[in-house]
Amino acid sequence: NTVEFFWKYRDYYLKGIQYTLLISALGVFFGFILGLLLALMRMSGMAVLRWIAVSYIEVLRGTPMLVQLFIIHYSLTSFGINFTPIQSGVLTLSLNSAAYLAEIFRAGIQGVDRGQLEAARSLGMSRKQAMRHVILPQAFKGVLPAIGNEFIVIIKESSIVSFIGVFDLMYQAQILRGSTYAPLNPLLVAAIIYFILTFTLSKLMGVLERKLSSSDQR
Ligand code: ARG
Repeated sequence: NTVEFFWKYRDYYLKGIQYTLLISALGVFFGFILGLLLALMRMSGMAVLRWIAVSYIEVLRGTPMLVQLFIIHYSLTSFGINFTPIQSGVLTLSLNSAAYLAEIFRAGIQGVDRGQLEAARSLGMSRKQAMRHVILPQAFKGVLPAIGNEFIVIIKESSIVSFIGVFDLMYQAQILRGSTYAPLNPLLVAAIIYFILTFTLSKLMGVLERKLSSSDQR
């Protein structure tokens, strides 16, 4: 049965989990930084910056992530750029996620009442200080559920890196499918593990949300 199948091949799955978590965590981390930068660019006073950010977001959101992955891994070689499968995987997840996170951050920042900026400015803070100490913390809190959702999307979508030979969870399932000829269990076990990962993350985000909103006077 399925449990026995998992136990028999647990080494494969445990290895896969490590790669899936590594790639997803790095993807989310770099996506977060780039996404924040893009959100700020998009709302900046300089038209060039806004244009760059908008174009970036539209292109990365408007093309399939699998195609982006293949371009980064197989096409950039024509320019002499060669990445390992893990590098290509992390890069693609980061670049793609940044586009979505940028829109989430922008929604969050624009959702903070204007009065907050005005109050901070009237206290003598610069625009930068007000952004950093007053606006961003509130914005972040407001979009926490959306950020959690993006993390979950990234864990699931990281499965496409199996296409370029990263030994992640999906890759291991495919290996086991090919070597055992079992039609159900290799994939069912992978699905259950993906679910456990995303469900755990979902619960953790819930805890974080409650923690942050307990200091909320609204
Ligand atoms: N399957 C979608 C695509 O290929 C996933 C996009 C990733 N979504 C995200 N929120 N980062 O475009």
